[in-house]
Amino acid sequence: MITSALVIKNGRIIDPSQGMDDTLDLLIADGKISKIQKPAEKNDKENIIEERDVPSSDRQVIDAAGLIVVPGLIDMHTHLREPGYEYKETIKTGCKAAAAGGFTSIACMANTKPVNDNPAITGIILKKAKQEGCVNVFPIGAVTLGLQGQVLTDMDALKKAGVIAVSDDGKPLSNISLAGITMGQTLRLDFPFISHCENADMVKGGVMNEGVISRSLNLRGIPAKAEESMLARDISLLESVGGILHIAHVSTAGSVRLIREAKARGITISAETAPHYFCLTDKAVKKYGAIAKVNPPLRTKADTEAIKEGLKDGTIDVIATDHAPHSRRDKDREFSLAENGIVGLETAVSLSLKLYHEGLLSLAELFRKMTINPARILKIDKGRVKAGWDADLTIIDPDAEVVVDRQKFKSKGKNTPFDGWKLRGKVVKTIVGGKIIFTG
Ligand code: DOR
Ligand code: ZN
Repeated sequence: MITSALVIKNGRIIDPSQGMDDTLDLLIADGKISKIQKPAEKNDKENIIEERDVPSSDRQVIDAAGLIVVPGLIDMHTHLREPGYEYKETIKTGCKAAAAGGFTSIACMANTKPVNDNPAITGIILKKAKQEGCVNVFPIGAVTLGLQGQVLTDMDALKKAGVIAVSDDGKPLSNISLAGITMGQTLRLDFPFISHCENADMVKGGVMNEGVISRSLNLRGIPAKAEESMLARDISLLESVGGILHIAHVSTAGSVRLIREAKARGITISAETAPHYFCLTDKAVKKYGAIAKVNPPLRTKADTEAIKEGLKDGTIDVIATDHAPHSRRDKDREFSLAENGIVGLETAVSLSLKLYHEGLLSLAELFRKMTINPARILKIDKGRVKAGWDADLTIIDPDAEVVVDRQKFKSKGKNTPFDGWKLRGKVVKTIVGGKIIFTG
C-alpha cells in the first residue's frame, strides 16, 4: 500500500523520448512515477488510477485538463554564481528561479570564485545544492585551472566528485594542444567538453556584434568569424582525435552551417542555443543598451533565421538558457565596461514557445530540446515520463498569455531585455521527486 501520493489527471503528456503524446493519468509515489494509464470512466472505480492503491486521505490530486505535462525541463547551461558572487545569485535563488521557469534539473558552469576546478569546490556546490536547492544541480567542472587556459584540471578527480561535463565557459580554450588532450579525456571519462567558441585574437576588445549597428553606435565589433573559426578548429580536432564535444550558445548562421555539415559527414557533435539568439538581434543593443550585452553577442536577422532553421532541422539539439545573472551595478554602466549576460531561467519557456506558436516546431520537437536531448548529452537519468523514473515533471499552459515582469523574478538577476514582453506560455507547476516546488 502506498502511503502518500500525487496524482496528475487528464493532462496531455508529451514525452519526446518515447513518442508519447496522449491524455493520460499519472500516479506518483515515493518520489517516482509509479503508474501511467488512460483516464478511466468516472464510475469505473476499479480502474481509476489512485483508487485501488492510495487511501484518499493521503493523496493530492492535480487536474491537468487543458494543460501539457512534460518531463521536468533540463537546463544544461546555467550560471549559479556561488561560491564567490553571491550578490549576483546564490545556489538557493538560482534553484528557485529554475523552479519558477519549469526547470527541474540544471547544470551549472564553473566560472565561480573560486572556479570549480577541483573536487573540493564541486563538493561544496553539491552539498549546498542538496541543502538549499529545490532542483537537481549538476556541476560542470573547469577544463583549465582558474579558467586560465594554461594547465588542465584533474578531470578524473572532478568526475569522481560529481561533475558531469567540463567547460571553461565564459572563456575560450585557445590552446589547441590542450583542446586536443581534453577531447581525448572526454572519451576516457565519458562526459562532454562544452566548448565556448571564441577566437580571442578576433574579439580584440569587441563588445557587440560587428556590423551596421556596431558601426552606427561606434562600438568595437566582434565578428561572426570569431565564433566560427574556433568552431571549425574544434570540429577538425574532433575529426582527428575523437571526443565528446558539445557547442555552447551557437549564435551565427555560419556556426549552424558548420555543425550541419559536420553532422552530415557523420561526425557526432551536439550543440545548443539560447532563446535570446532566436528572439533578438543586435538592434536590441540600440534599444536596451547593456542589458542586451551578452557573449557571444546578439547577431543579425539572418543569423536568427539560420538558428531557427537549425533548431527545425535538428542541427541544434538543445535550447539552454545561459542564465547569467548580474547585479544592477554590473550592468548599469558604460556599455563597453558592463558585464556580459542575460538572465534566462524564468523566460525560457515562454520565449521558446514562440517557436511553437510561429509554427516552426511542434510541442514534442520543442520539448525534446529541453528534456531528453540535454539528458542524453549529459548522460543523466532524467528527461522521461516512465514508470520507475524520478517524478520530475513540468506542467505548462502553452497558450496562457503572460507579461514578463522582472521584478517578480526569483533570480537575484533582473538583467533581461524581455521585461514587459507579452508572450504565450506559462509554467503552472514544477515537480521534483514527486514534490510540487513551484505553482505559477
Ligand atoms: O554573456 C555571458 N555571460 N557569456 C558568457 O560566456 C559568460 C556569462 C557569464 O558568466 O556572465
Ligand atoms: Zn555561459
